[in-house]
Amino acid sequence: MKKLKINTPRLIIRSLKMSDLLEFHFYRSNPQVTKYQGSGVLTMAQAKMFIDEQVGKKFGQPGQWVQYGIENKQTEKIIGDCAIKLEQNDIRIAEIGITISHPEQQKGYAKETMLGILNFLFTINDFHRVKETVDVENIASIKLLESIGFKKEGHFVENIFFNGKWGSEYQYAMLRNEWESLYSKKLYL
Ligand SMILES: CC(C)(COP(=O)(O)OP(=O)(O)OC[C@H]1O[C@@H](n2cnc3c(N)ncnc32)[C@H](O)[C@@H]1OP(=O)(O)O)[C@@H](O)C(=O)NCCC(=O)NCCS
Repeated sequence: MKKLKINTPRLIIRSLKMSDLLEFHFYRSNPQVTKYQGSGVLTMAQAKMFIDEQVGKKFGQPGQWVQYGIENKQTEKIIGDCAIKLEQNDIRIAEIGITISHPEQQKGYAKETMLGILNFLFTINDFHRVKETVDVENIASIKLLESIGFKKEGHFVENIFFNGKWGSEYQYAMLRNEWESLYSKKLYL
């Protein structure tokens, strides 16, 4: 597997670093941003531990979430983070997740990041399938996935006990051949 460093027009997707801590904690401590995330609102100590746990993790390890910083090329600060997990039993299947800092939302950064990641997985590497599971109430994530062309494949009903109540989730996915027919030109190379 190639090292993960993705360049898009405005962003660099690269390993998280301890120098990202202040920016990372800023949005990861916001209850609106973390509303649908299992990790919840992070204290500064938890944010530090979170980044610490990422040090040394490499792209290509099956069954392990690896978190990456999304750096704004102009400011050289992170404006969010994203995560990729390769399936334990088949590393041609990946699961992804993304978080954008609240002041930076709705500027197209999540879409730009996701297209960069999908290009890396499908075009540069040889992935077959990329999936994401989202809370049915997480409208921003659903819109993001649908605007990229992910297909809704499943609806799990009250499958997760989260924040004191049963929640339901959709599973979205994109296959390599769907990516190729939607994005025939190579992106960001
Ligand atoms: C989901 C999230 C990553 C979207 O980030 P973003 O940078 O604001 O998204 P973009 O600006 O790239 O928008 C992508 C598309 O989604 C739409 N969208 C984004 N936020 C939206 C919202 N709150 N309501 C409706 N549509 C929305 C945009 O209009 C755009 O659609 P278009 O391409 O058809 O115009 C961001 O809202 C977020 O970080 N949420 C909290 C974390 C989270 O729940 N992550 C998912 C679980 S891991």
